[in-house]
Amino acid sequence: MHGSLMACNHIAIIMDGNGRWAKSRGLPRLAGHKRGAKSVENIVEACRELNVKYLTLFSFSTENWGRSLEEINGLMRLFKHYLASETKRLKKTGIRFRALGEIDRFQPDVIEAIRKSEEETKDNTEMNLILALSYGGREEILAATKNIAEQVQKGEISPDQIDHALFRSSMWSADIPDPDLLIRTSAEMRISNFLLWQLAYSEIIITEELWPDFNKESLKRCIEEFDSRERRFGLTSEQVANNEK
Ligand code: IPE
Ligand code: IPE
Ligand code: MG
Repeated sequence: MHGSLMACNHIAIIMDGNGRWAKSRGLPRLAGHKRGAKSVENIVEACRELNVKYLTLFSFSTENWGRSLEEINGLMRLFKHYLASETKRLKKTGIRFRALGEIDRFQPDVIEAIRKSEEETKDNTEMNLILALSYGGREEILAATKNIAEQVQKGEISPDQIDHALFRSSMWSADIPDPDLLIRTSAEMRISNFLLWQLAYSEIIITEELWPDFNKESLKRCIEEFDSRERRFGLTSEQVANNEK
């Protein structure tokens, strides 16, 4: 039997193409990021309507620190503006906000905006919105490794106790389930240091649309495509069919 019977509980998105969107209109890159923030609002709302419980959005990567100061500063203003204006709506609609990444690399005002939004939405249970900010998959794996090495050094655990579950619980994203579906917009076929550990068995969809053009209909098409896939997790099609009986 075809068709994933597993619900799309967690969608992760590499929101790419803001720069190209702006360039094709002769606008500065930041204009693309502003339109991208509008797509974020729409997609958060769409996920809530479609009963997606976790949405993780790659908003700023470790590598993005290498962009021009002008672009970085513009993005920081945008993050603060987004958090200030959206937190009210997140509160009202029952969405819990969390940031994932090396948040202490940001300026104090950005950190404060992030912490405030996390604090004000922490009791919400309708849906989880996770923004990967100053995030790198390799950095997250290194942080977990250091954490475990310290526990071994203190004699709290022995090396043979290090298994998938322990490793997973030592990561920044410990209590967030692995994504069922990864979407990347703008046709680029790469992971760009996103959730390296967590994406091990996620279904991947790459769309042609640039992120500012990605809307609720685009998301629905992706979920339909996800639903038509068979997730085998290393088994054969026949085994999967038997397990589903
Ligand atoms: C994604 O859009 C947003 C961030 C990386 C912050 P880009 O800025 O990478 O847009 P392109 O890839 O240049 O079109
Ligand atoms: C990935 O996009 C990071 C975000 C979407 C925040 P990039 O545009 O930075 O990725 P590369 O550098 O083209 O792989
Ligand atoms: Mg890009």
